[in-house]
Order: sequence, then structure tokens, then C-alpha cells
Amino acid sequence: MRYVNLPGTDWNVSAVAMGCWALAGDQTWGPQDEAESIATIHAALDAGINFFDTAELYGAGLAEEVLGKALRGQREKVFFASKFNWENARYDKVISACEASLRRLRTDVIDLYQIHWANWDVPFEETWSALEELKRQGKIRAIGVCNFGVQDLTAILRLGKPVTNQLPYGLLFRAIEYDILPLCRAKNIGVLCYSPLTIGLLTGKYRTPDEVPPGRARTRHFSSTRPLTRHGEPGCEAETFAAIHQIEEVAKQLGVTVVRLALAWLLAQPGVTSVINGMRRPHQARENAAAADLALPTEVVEQLRRITDPVKEKLGPNPDMWEGSARSRFR
Ligand SMILES: NC(=O)c1ccc[n+]([C@@H]2O[C@H](COP(=O)([O-])OP(=O)(O)OC[C@H]3O[C@@H](n4cnc5c(N)ncnc54)[C@H](OP(=O)(O)O)[C@@H]3O)[C@@H](O)[C@H]2O)c1
Repeated sequence: MRYVNLPGTDWNVSAVAMGCWALAGDQTWGPQDEAESIATIHAALDAGINFFDTAELYGAGLAEEVLGKALRGQREKVFFASKFNWENARYDKVISACEASLRRLRTDVIDLYQIHWANWDVPFEETWSALEELKRQGKIRAIGVCNFGVQDLTAILRLGKPVTNQLPYGLLFRAIEYDILPLCRAKNIGVLCYSPLTIGLLTGKYRTPDEVPPGRARTRHFSSTRPLTRHGEPGCEAETFAAIHQIEEVAKQLGVTVVRLALAWLLAQPGVTSVINGMRRPHQARENAAAADLALPTEVVEQLRRITDPVKEKLGPNPDMWEGSARSRFR
């Protein structure tokens, strides 16, 4: 495993982090067995992963509980990142959300506590001062944001500096390259890439858009005629699957899996700190952790960029994977 410095801290976190959303077993992911989740967390730890990302949102606290249970007695070996819900942005709610997460995680400090989505009804000053207070009390060690576009990041930077911005980024979703990634790089804010496999699309599992279960076919890649979408856009199913098939060819030629190739491509992008990859089975943790040590030749990095340019162009600069431009939760 390769370890990277989390900007603004002296911590060395694994370049591949384990994302715990799927442990919730919700509408997107379908049922998840707790014993399998715990085995996956242990496999991740054994493979050198020391960075675990979760949120109170995932299964209404369930993912945090499972993580806390699995890592009981091993707390000093890992970095916990968690997030509070959009509706908990008021001062008192941030404090109580954090205290509830601490209990579920069975710890007395969360290493990185993140704003999950910006809540524009609450002044950032109020939310930020609650986060500063949690830091002062020793309940969190660092503050991060997620899903902050240029306008929100610029506003928060007037109050203080988040160490990270967690953003959707992967070969099939490159909207952050237009402007928020360059700003994070310029300000030395770590970029944590979420849904690096586009919710499992980049795994070789699905040959056509119709094979993708409705809970996953909600992103802007899919036509708004799919039952659970809410973006109201035409999507880009043809471009997405043409790119997937070409990426699979490249993986075959290199003798690596699509998953490892997709994660290694991301880790080769300037400004990227860690990839937050969802894992729900022990074999996935073992395979995906190995991507951190796969160095891709520059020509391959460029080739993959060219292959996915049509998807990037069709989806445009809105970094919201699920909402169309008119209702984007990024600004
Ligand atoms: N801040 C935010 O707003 C935000 C939003 C979304 C996600 N996140 C974070 O980012 C994390 C990762 O994103 P994600 O879970 O959406 O998706 P992802 O990493 O793009 O995809 C993960 C899924 O792909 C499948 N998979 C993973 N490795 C595989 C392998 N080796 N072979 C075959 N299939 C494999 C698994 O599902 P199956 O086995 O079921 O196919 C897994 O759950 C989340 O867990 C969460 O921590 C944050």
C-alpha cells in the first residue's frame, strides 16, 4: 500500500481508502450482511488500508455502527472520516450529530469530520463555528467538506481552511476537472475522490445499461426514463458503455482488472489525495487495495482520458452525479 500525506496534517493515509456507504445495504446497494461487512473491513485493514470514510447518512447510522464494531480495539491504527447530514447544519445539530457519530463509531475522536452537502439555508459561519468548537473540545481532529463547488469553497475559505474536499471523480465522471479540482490544487486542499468506479459501473459487471439495477441507474449517465432518476436529462448511456468497453480492452491488454486500472488512473491525476472506494466483500478490498501500487505509463493515462472525453463532454461541468444543472447541489 502507498501512503499519502493528507494536506494540512501530519497523517499518512492510504491512497486507497475504504468507503462504507454500501455497508448500509440501502436502495442503491441492496441487502448487505453484517458479517460480510466486518470481514471486508478486516480484509481492508490487512491489505494496508488505514483510512475509512463513512457518514451518519449511510443506513441512518448503521454503516458507522458496523465500522465501530469491526475496528473495536484497533482504533489507533486507523483514520476515521465521517460526515453530518445536510439537515444538521445548525450549530447545535452539528454538535449533537457528531456526538451521536462518536458513540456509533465507539471512539472519542473523529479524525476528519465533513460537511456532507452544503446547506445554503444556514450561514456557513454558524456551521463552521460549530466545527471549530468540536475541534477545540477534541472531538474531531480536522474539518473537511464534500461536494463544495468554487463558490462555496471560496466562501468557506474566508472562515478557515478545510483540509479536504470530497468530490465525485472517476474515469466516467470528470466534471470536477472543469473548475473545482484546479481550485483545490491551487489552495492545497486535498481531493478525496468518491464513487471512483461510478457506483460499480467500472467493474466489468454490466454489459449494457439495461443490466444495471434501477437503484444504481440513477446517475446522470442514465436516461431520465429510468425509473429512479431525478435529473430530467437525456443521459449518455451510449457514450458511457462505449467507454466502458474500450477501458475493458485496455485493461485486458495490460493484464490488469478494470477496477485496478480505473483506481490507478485516478491516483495518477494531479491534486488527487486518496480514492474513496466502496468495498463490500473481502475479495474487493484485497483487489482494490493493490491499485495503489499500480503505476500507469503516461501514454495509458492519456489514452484513458481520450476514451472518456465523450462522456465528460456530454455530462458537462455540473459535478452533481444525480441532479441536473437546474437543481445541482453544487455551486
Ligand atoms: N461525499 C459524498 O457525497 C459521497 C457520495 C457518494 C459516495 N461517497 C463515498 O465514496 C465511497 C465510494 O463510492 P461508491 O460506494 O459510490 O462507489 P464506487 O467505489 O464507485 O463503487 C463501489 C462498488 O463497486 C463494486 N466493487 C468494488 N470493488 C469491486 C471489485 N473489485 N470487483 C467487482 N465489484 C467491485 C461494489 O459493489 P457490488 O459488489 O455490489 O457491485 C462496491 O460497493 C462511498 O462508500 C462513500 O464512502 C461519498
